[in-house]
Amino acid sequence: MEGGRESDLGQLLAAARGVYKTAFGGVDPVIAVSAPGRVNLIGEHTDYNQGFVLPMALQMWTVMVGSPRQDGIISIVTTVEVAEESQRVQFPVPVEGGALKPGEPRWANYVKGVIQHYRAGPLPGFNVVIASNVPLGGGLSSSASLEVATYTFLQQLCPDDEDPVAKALVCQKAEHTFAMMPCGIMDQFISVMGKEGHALLIDCRSLETCLVPLTDPNLVVLITNSNVRHTLTGSEYPTRRRQCEEAAKVLGKPSLREASMADLEASKSLMSGEVYKRARHAIGEIERTTRAAEALQSREYERFGQLMVESHNSLRDDYEVSCPELDELVSAALEVPGVYGSRMTGGGFGGCTVTLLESRVAEKVLAHIKDKYSKTATFYSTKPSDGAKVHHLP
Ligand code: GLA
Repeated sequence: MEGGRESDLGQLLAAARGVYKTAFGGVDPVIAVSAPGRVNLIGEHTDYNQGFVLPMALQMWTVMVGSPRQDGIISIVTTVEVAEESQRVQFPVPVEGGALKPGEPRWANYVKGVIQHYRAGPLPGFNVVIASNVPLGGGLSSSASLEVATYTFLQQLCPDDEDPVAKALVCQKAEHTFAMMPCGIMDQFISVMGKEGHALLIDCRSLETCLVPLTDPNLVVLITNSNVRHTLTGSEYPTRRRQCEEAAKVLGKPSLREASMADLEASKSLMSGEVYKRARHAIGEIERTTRAAEALQSREYERFGQLMVESHNSLRDDYEVSCPELDELVSAALEVPGVYGSRMTGGGFGGCTVTLLESRVAEKVLAHIKDKYSKTATFYSTKPSDGAKVHHLP
């Protein structure tokens, strides 16, 4: 089992500092920040429908260490290897009226997007090194953690008003305009606002958040990485979003948050079978998420687990964003007594599942999934962690 300790963060920061010294003439960086990845416990594909989500921040982070420089140049080095992409990029700070554009290497687009939309200025140039232990493309929000780390780094160079909601929204905008991914707000919100020992219920319409304690020592949140990523994700996500918008329009509602199952049934004949199914998932999932938050609050784990399973089935059958690998992992987990629930997590088409279980059966569950899964899975277990942080360098 991997990941999940504060000491990992210390190691990550130390590694980034070492690379920084080598890359930037032997001097130490003066700024260090971190931002976590996330796992979503329930509330999938509900954020862009103005619904509820219930994620927690992971003890897996993207860190950035760096220093300002006086010549207006931004120089970025990443220690994260991406096939066929350069690990170093350099460009001038955008001057007023000018604009950064997305391009190659693609990993740098998340950083550029946040620089472009940053809420204070003028920014100085800077040198920075990025390191991360959030698995890339695993559906644990490696990109949101990079965006939020970047914003937190820029706040140290040129302070803004520290409004956490505005910060998360800028990071989401970076993703929309520089990574061309029309995501909702969940990933950036939890990476900014996560709290140790808590999941976060986010109302994606009012943008209000509510902490739900998650500290029971008898409970384990297990993340299983299928280690597959089907290429559909890029095109299917915007399609799902559009289908939900279409359904809301047919129902005469601003979003599916305002729609009930009765509304949907009444207008079933006015939409295609596919759009109907997408809406049925979104409306059902929004309701499930509020019920799940109540169950977690009152420590009714059996009930929570049932809702997780219902969520998975709906994502598989109605929303059609699961895949055989994720279904296999969920079925295998559910075969072990002591497992409360299991489901795919994140956008889908690969990536990870999240499983809630009694801690006493953790080893058994791992062994069973390993045995049953037709490919090779990776396991992580982490406690809910804090959102983005600034670290004081010794
Ligand atoms: C991705 C997006 C999120 C959310 C999930 C699905 O992670 O970035 O905004 O829509 O998919 O719940």
